[in-house]
Amino acid sequence: MKIATILGTRPEIIKLSPLIPLLDNEFNHILIHTGQHYSYNMDKIFFDELSLRDCDYTLNIGSGTHAAQTGKMMIEIEKVLLKEKPDIVVVQGDTNSTLAGAITASKLNIKIAHIEAGCRSFDKRMPEEVNRILVDHCSDVLFAPDDNAINNLTAEGIQKNSFYLVGNTSIDACLRVADIFNLSKLKELDLKKQDYAVLTVHRQENTEYNKLKEIINAMNLISEQIKIVFPVHLRTKKIIETYDIQISENILLIDPTGYKDFIGLVANSKFVMTDSGGIQEECGVLDVPCLILRENTEWEYLVDLGKNLLIGTDYKNITSTVKDLLTNNWKLEEMRNIKAPIKRGVSEKIVSILKTYDTS
Ligand code: UD1
Ligand code: UDP
Repeated sequence: MKIATILGTRPEIIKLSPLIPLLDNEFNHILIHTGQHYSYNMDKIFFDELSLRDCDYTLNIGSGTHAAQTGKMMIEIEKVLLKEKPDIVVVQGDTNSTLAGAITASKLNIKIAHIEAGCRSFDKRMPEEVNRILVDHCSDVLFAPDDNAINNLTAEGIQKNSFYLVGNTSIDACLRVADIFNLSKLKELDLKKQDYAVLTVHRQENTEYNKLKEIINAMNLISEQIKIVFPVHLRTKKIIETYDIQISENILLIDPTGYKDFIGLVANSKFVMTDSGGIQEECGVLDVPCLILRENTEWEYLVDLGKNLLIGTDYKNITSTVKDLLTNNWKLEEMRNIKAPIKRGVSEKIVSILKTYDTS
């Protein structure tokens, strides 16, 4: 069986990193990179540090409006799929690369396997929510991470025999580095265990100028109580620089880091504030309280458990919630001590299901 895996962004590279070598071992496997992310610290750094093999095709699409980016990807992906004629195309998550890969394969009647199927934030203003729904509805094999995802697929009328509850490969990826993360960033920034918080912000809806300014103003106030390390996503960096948004000296701005550095920073922090999808799950694995800078999340099970907390994006909500948590430290400890269900060996499960999949 010939399988083509399509990826394009930082989280796809990280989350597919445990699966790629397994697909290489078991199948005639080609790896296609759309080039959606291309800066060294958003892309190649992860191939290097996670010892991933080179891609067979790099399409160099780069940045653009949603339609231009997705359309260009589809044109180039189609050429590769017509040449390589895979039996199955594997896509992961909810990015424009995921969407372009799935739609293009669907138009060529190639079977599609979607990893991280069924996740829903129920907020269609997020480009990712629309991508997820469209990809799930044209996929043939759907690998769901949790019960909520299974319930969503069922509610949307997707055929029961096409989806599998397997867990999330992000857990495999995180566990692989959980014992070998780097502490060099902590030393470099002179940080002590649980003496600081980590911040990431990059969602489209949070990086619109007024919203980003509001979030950063909240962080400026919080940083009077606790040091904040802020690895700045390149989308966010552009807005901060364009509008010259003022950031307190107690917020340590750093470039996006490698995965082992980032997991090292998270694992040793007091808490994380983020709008990232992947980081919410990683905090669950590492037992670090995660305060979600969003009104909703597709990783609801961690919020339902009380392990993660939705704190929204409103200045008052963010600052009052964090002030309360820092005053009542036991609340953070309580979140830390709740155990998240962790499904291991997800990549192996995916491979064994694909091995028995009938592509006729
Ligand atoms: C994309 C995904 C998002 C995912 C995120 C992971 C979509 C719709 N969004 O958002 O779901 O959470 O990746 O990080 O697919 N840039 C660079 N260098 C890079 C990449 C981006 O400078 O290597 C800058 C460019 O100015 C670009 C901007 O970041 O315009 C946004 O990049 P883009 O890939 O369009 O969206 P992300 O915000 O990264
Ligand atoms: N990450 C990283 N370095 C950073 C910030 C994040 O390696 O400076 C990793 C993080 O551990 C997670 C992934 O990037 O695995 C999350 O990517 P992002 O937040 O960009 O996307 P999302 O998960 O929201 O789609």
